[in-house]
Amino acid sequence: MTQKKQAGILGLGAYLPERILTNADLEKMVDTSDEWIRTRTGIRERRIAEKGTATSDLAVKASLEAIQNSGLKPSDLDLIILATVTPDMIFPSTACILQNKIGATCPAFDLSAACSGFTYGLALAEGLIRSETYKHILVVGAEVISGFINWKDRSTCVLFGDGAGAAVIGETHDGHGILATYMGSDGSQARLLQIPAGGSAIPPSISSIETGLHYVQMDGAEVFKSAVRTMGDAIQEITKRAHLTIQGIDCLIPHQANLRILNAVSDRTKIPIEKIFVNLDRYGNMSAASTIVALYEAVKEGKIKKGSTVVMVAFGSGLTWAACALRW
Ligand code: UT7
Repeated sequence: MTQKKQAGILGLGAYLPERILTNADLEKMVDTSDEWIRTRTGIRERRIAEKGTATSDLAVKASLEAIQNSGLKPSDLDLIILATVTPDMIFPSTACILQNKIGATCPAFDLSAACSGFTYGLALAEGLIRSETYKHILVVGAEVISGFINWKDRSTCVLFGDGAGAAVIGETHDGHGILATYMGSDGSQARLLQIPAGGSAIPPSISSIETGLHYVQMDGAEVFKSAVRTMGDAIQEITKRAHLTIQGIDCLIPHQANLRILNAVSDRTKIPIEKIFVNLDRYGNMSAASTIVALYEAVKEGKIKKGSTVVMVAFGSGLTWAACALRW
C-alpha cells in the first residue's frame, strides 16, 4: 500500500502595523481603564493599521516573508487561501488582490470562518497536499478589524487589533508536519458575534450606518463560555485524532481573545498554562490573524523547536472552532 503524502509548514511570515494603541490611549477615548482591560482580558496594547491600509496590504508583507522562508517564489504557489472577516471589499476576494500584489498566478479564494479561519485553511491545505492536488499552498490570516469597530463602544473597542500571518504548506517528511485536523461549526449561535449590516441581509444604507449595524457586535459573556467549552473539546478531539496525550503536547497555540479564557482552557484540559503561548497582551484579538501570528512568534522565541508537538486551537464567530496538531 502506498503511504499518503504528509503535509506541513514550509515557511512562516507575519506583519503587525507599527502604530500601537495602548490601554492608556483608550482611557482617553471611552469610559474604561487600563486596570479593567488588563484584569478582564489581559490585553495591554494592540496594533492599528494606518488609515487607508487594506487587509491585503498587511497580507502581502506576511505572505512575502512566508514564501521567502519556505525557499520558494510567488510563482511556485499553486493556491492561495486567505482567511479574513475584514476583506478589502465584498468582491473580488482579498486573496485575488493579494495574488496580484505578490506576483503569483495561481487560483486564490477567501475563506470565511472568523477567528477559526486560519486553522480551517490549514485543514483544507493539508487535504489538498495529501491528495496531491497541489504542491505549495499559501494560507493567510489577515485582518484590518479596526475599520469595523465602534470606537465609542467600550465593550468591544478595547478587545481587537490589526495584523496578518501566513504559512506556506507543502510536502514534509520523516513524520514532521500536520498530524491531524478538526473543524466544527454551530450556526444556531450566529447572533452572538457578528457584523449585521453590509451584506445581503441588511445592505448598507444610511439607516444601517446610523444604527451602527456595520460594526462588530458581541454578547461577550456568552461568547466567553462557548470559547472555553469548544476550545477545550477541540483540544480533546485533536489529541485523540493525532494519537497524542495531553501531557505529550509541548506547546498550545490558541486563539488570542482573552487571558481568562486561556486560563479556563488550561483548567479544563489540564494543559499547564506555561505551555500555552500568549501574545494577546501585545496585540489583542486579531481574529483570523491571531493563531498564525502566535505560531510565528512561538517559533521565533524558541518555544517551538524541531520535534516539538504543537496543537493550534481556534474559536470564533459562526460559531466556528478548529484545531490542528503538528510535529515541528
Ligand atoms: O474572537 C472571538 C472570541 N471573542 C471572545 O472570546 C470574547 C469573549 N468575551 C470576553 O472576552 C469577555 O466577555 C469581555 C472581555 C468581552 C467582557 O468581560 P466580562 O467579564 O464578560 O464583562 P461583562 O461584559 O460582563 O461586563 C462587566 C461590566 C459591565 O458593567 P456593569 O453592567 O456590571 O455595570 C460592563 O458595562 O464591565 C463593564 N465593561 C467595561 N468597563 C470598563 C464592559 N467593557 C468595559 C470596559 N471598561 N472596556
